[in-house]
Amino acid sequence: MATKRWFTLLRNAAIGLAAAATAASFATPAVADQPPSTNVVGGTRAAQGEFPFMVRLSMGCGGALYTSQIVLTAAHCVSRTGANSSITATVGVVDLQSTSAKKVKSTYVYRSPTYGTATGGDWALIKLASPVTGLATLPIATTSSLNTGSFSIAGWGAASEGGAQQRYLLKAQVPFVPDSTCKAQGGSYGRLIPNAELCAGNVSAGGVDTCQGDSGGPMFRRDDAGAWIQVGITSWGDGCARPHAPGVYTEVSTFASAIADAAKKI
Ligand code: ARG
Repeated sequence: MATKRWFTLLRNAAIGLAAAATAASFATPAVADQPPSTNVVGGTRAAQGEFPFMVRLSMGCGGALYTSQIVLTAAHCVSRTGANSSITATVGVVDLQSTSAKKVKSTYVYRSPTYGTATGGDWALIKLASPVTGLATLPIATTSSLNTGSFSIAGWGAASEGGAQQRYLLKAQVPFVPDSTCKAQGGSYGRLIPNAELCAGNVSAGGVDTCQGDSGGPMFRRDDAGAWIQVGITSWGDGCARPHAPGVYTEVSTFASAIADAAKKI
């Protein structure tokens, strides 16, 4: 089962984070010095305030503000449902070292009860000790109608397979990949759960993808009114940005009512 690999990737993400804590690995060129569209993998720097709902979680995952006090992330980023004050959420900044970063502790974790079953459901909610103010939340898709087209991905995870966690938020765009194409890539992709998982990436060329440490972060697009809406949660992939190995995201619309119900209760 792919679960085992997820944990491996998570552990790698944690190791990467520890490495990134040294000043040397945070030596990053200014935005203007960056080559365009080269480095998430195959991404570019997000502007401050561009994605106000983005959350960095202390265990080395991403997330999105579902409400001002609840972060939506991946089930494989957390251990269990219950009281939990061990997670720190960093919000409001693209630069994790910025002095204007807001840091809030968790109080409770809700892990999808269907995660790890045949139903799938790699999602979890983290309740924060207090609401964060002045940051837009990211609504989730409640139908499958927007599970197509081009998606935005973002995160502080590795910018190349096996690479270091990032100080600055990276973003990229990836095209929708049909379940049939995704499954046909073989290996772990043969175990894709079509209703629970949504694939995205450049299938034949690779090159653009989420990577270790981006897990739990949102995959999102514009809705028909032009507003950001979340369609996926970064879940897994075979390596990062490899050809014939698209990124796999939790299909948020499938779990939208379960997420809403859980959020009401925590
Ligand atoms: N599971 C990884 C994490 O813990 C995310 C992997 C995403 N991989 C990919 N190729 N899209 O951060």
